[in-house]
Amino acid sequence: MVASRRGSGSITLPSGQTMAIHTRTHEDEDLPHATKKTMADHLRKYESLFTLTPQRMRMIVEAFKDSLELGLKKPEQVVPMIPTFVFGWPSGKESGDFLALDLGGTNLRVCLVTLQGEGKFEMTQTKYRLTEEQKQDEGQKLFDFCAECLKTFVDTNFTDGDGKSLLKPGEMLPLGFTFSYPCVQERIDHGKLIRWTKGFGALNTEGRDVAEMFRRSIQKYKVPVVMTALINDTTGTLIASSYVNPRTKIAVIFGTGCNAAYMENVKDIDKIKDLGIDEKAQMAINCEWGAFDSFEHEHLPRTKYDIIVDETSNKPGEQAFEKLISGRYLGEILRLVICELIDEGVLFLGQETYKLETPYVFETAFLSLMESDPTDELLMIIGIFTHFFAVETTLAERQFFRALAMLIGRRAARLSACGIAAIVSKMGYLDEGCLVGADGSLYNKYPGFAERVHEGLFDVFGEKGRNIITHHAEDGSGVGSAIIAAMTKVRRDAGLYPNV
Ligand code: BGC
Repeated sequence: MVASRRGSGSITLPSGQTMAIHTRTHEDEDLPHATKKTMADHLRKYESLFTLTPQRMRMIVEAFKDSLELGLKKPEQVVPMIPTFVFGWPSGKESGDFLALDLGGTNLRVCLVTLQGEGKFEMTQTKYRLTEEQKQDEGQKLFDFCAECLKTFVDTNFTDGDGKSLLKPGEMLPLGFTFSYPCVQERIDHGKLIRWTKGFGALNTEGRDVAEMFRRSIQKYKVPVVMTALINDTTGTLIASSYVNPRTKIAVIFGTGCNAAYMENVKDIDKIKDLGIDEKAQMAINCEWGAFDSFEHEHLPRTKYDIIVDETSNKPGEQAFEKLISGRYLGEILRLVICELIDEGVLFLGQETYKLETPYVFETAFLSLMESDPTDELLMIIGIFTHFFAVETTLAERQFFRALAMLIGRRAARLSACGIAAIVSKMGYLDEGCLVGADGSLYNKYPGFAERVHEGLFDVFGEKGRNIITHHAEDGSGVGSAIIAAMTKVRRDAGLYPNV
């Protein structure tokens, strides 16, 4: 019998759950377990399913580029390439106090940002967790909740010690509203929601102007703010990153959802030619690239697990690219592989596996933890499987799970590189090189994600791929939103609103 080993510690997951781990390995086989050889054979099968060759990546980049170009030419394309009415880069001199409200995938955040000019800022913020019910209930109720949180924040931060308001009578605070879902914009303070993503499904919202709905809630709660801009998190990230580092040309989010923004020449956005905007101007484009290859599924290498994820989602057919990449789905892909091996009698024979059978119980954070387990015995992985799913694992199985996480995480990063490569190639940034501001839980927390994106760029472009460097971006949804609100104020004061 192999001697037992012990390990202990605790981890907190994004869902807020804390896991205390007190584990020991016991390789004495009192349960029928898969052998090392069986697991290695299975791994080979998954390796070929989840591996993207450089050649395949280059084909994806070409198709991606075509989709980006089509989206700029005509309205209502699969990749919508949304003109944001954010004109050009910030000067870095923007200053003043601005509020930002950030409705992302997981939390609601209210921020007070003080822009100090010269690329500097300070920020105070409060976070509120959104419940599953709020994500599916009436849309107007969701905006009411946003307005209520905003009111509490303003009441707390703009009163003196005696509770008296610090605002002058009638004073309204400028607000940037970061609403990170695809919205078609006619002006900077308008946005018709094309579709919910990231598992949201709030009723009576798709097809409507969410800026208008939010304004109604602001009035209902009498919050002393004026919403100057409706912003996507990627656009905010682009502007915030450029504010502190002007070499930034592209912004990407790899979090619960995934998306990118970049600055386009107005003369190259055919579909808004009739607006008569100065052809020499530049405008940020919110690509909404998570939708690449939706509906037709012609270009992306989807496995049967990806197809199940898609078909059982609340939006089948949609966000095809996002479903292979973003943090919302990676854990589920891995869970589906495990469930298949349970069904085939390969894993966990004789053990109760019902805890693994609920969709989405396997969080993407588990993949990060599995990949970063530093122990030879993979104690962290023992902890995950015993604590959350009440199943025993052998070392061979744990090595297999870790390798599987690696395959799924690596594919996500390499596909992300394809998206970045498509923008770089379309805009001709390769020779000169550029910085890509990146944010989101996958980028920030998944071990090796950034390195794998860089490796992918090298595989697509060869040596020159090294000219494209991603870096952790500034907080686009808070700071970026505030800078855009400030830029918009300057344009309004100069009589340039809505879109000259
Ligand atoms: C949304 C985008 C957003 C991205 C990252 C996607 O699901 O459609 O608008 O930028 O998630 O948050």
